[in-house]
Amino acid sequence: MGKKTNNWYKSHINDEFVKLANKENWRSRAVYKLKEIDEKYDLISSNSKILDLGSSPGGWSQYASRKHKNITITAVDLLKMENIENVNFVQSDIEDFGKNYLKNGCFDKIDLVMSDIAPNISGIDSADVPAILSLAEIVTDIALGSLNESGNLLIKLFQGKGTDEYIKETKQFFKKVRIIKPKASRSNSREIYMLASTLRLNG
Ligand SMILES: C[S@@+](CC[C@H](N)C(=O)[O-])C[C@H]1O[C@@H](n2cnc3c(N)ncnc32)[C@H](O)[C@@H]1O
Repeated sequence: MGKKTNNWYKSHINDEFVKLANKENWRSRAVYKLKEIDEKYDLISSNSKILDLGSSPGGWSQYASRKHKNITITAVDLLKMENIENVNFVQSDIEDFGKNYLKNGCFDKIDLVMSDIAPNISGIDSADVPAILSLAEIVTDIALGSLNESGNLLIKLFQGKGTDEYIKETKQFFKKVRIIKPKASRSNSREIYMLASTLRLNG
């Protein structure tokens, strides 16, 4: 194991959220980010219809499906994901998924589009920030084409060049936009979450 990998491994196994996720039997520590935001803004209720984009290994879908038994989740990821009750998993790039999904147009409106999608991180901001922003544009298109009027879009972003512009652009389509840094999001990371709520019907 290289020194850098070794350091990452040590800090990972000592991380309080990794320990808690193991103890509480969640697939990932990412659960605690969604849990904190959901507990504050009440995003997931019974009968919710949810799209979970970038879902593997499945922590967010697992959290939503454990919270309410009668919700419907479609989860999408490039990587495989093990089965979760009430979750319909599609292994696909979100760009292809989005094209088919929006083209078919014969689906029930969605209450929550949640995206924890992250590109392969290089550690170089000038590459990572544009990469997540281009995925964010795809996620926003899917959200705008599928959310019901009072629906929510929760999406992971990295702070950096172009992020403020993306947030400003999104504000044209939603009545309320919040930026959130959950406790489980590492303080030394540029990761933030944007929660956009209630569509403006005329864009
Ligand atoms: C941080 S992980 C998601 C963790 C998940 N929310 C959980 O709670 O377990 C980000 C995921 O985004 C996926 N991803 C990245 N680019 C993607 C793309 N273009 N289409 C679909 N999934 C993608 C990755 O494969 C990865 O599984």
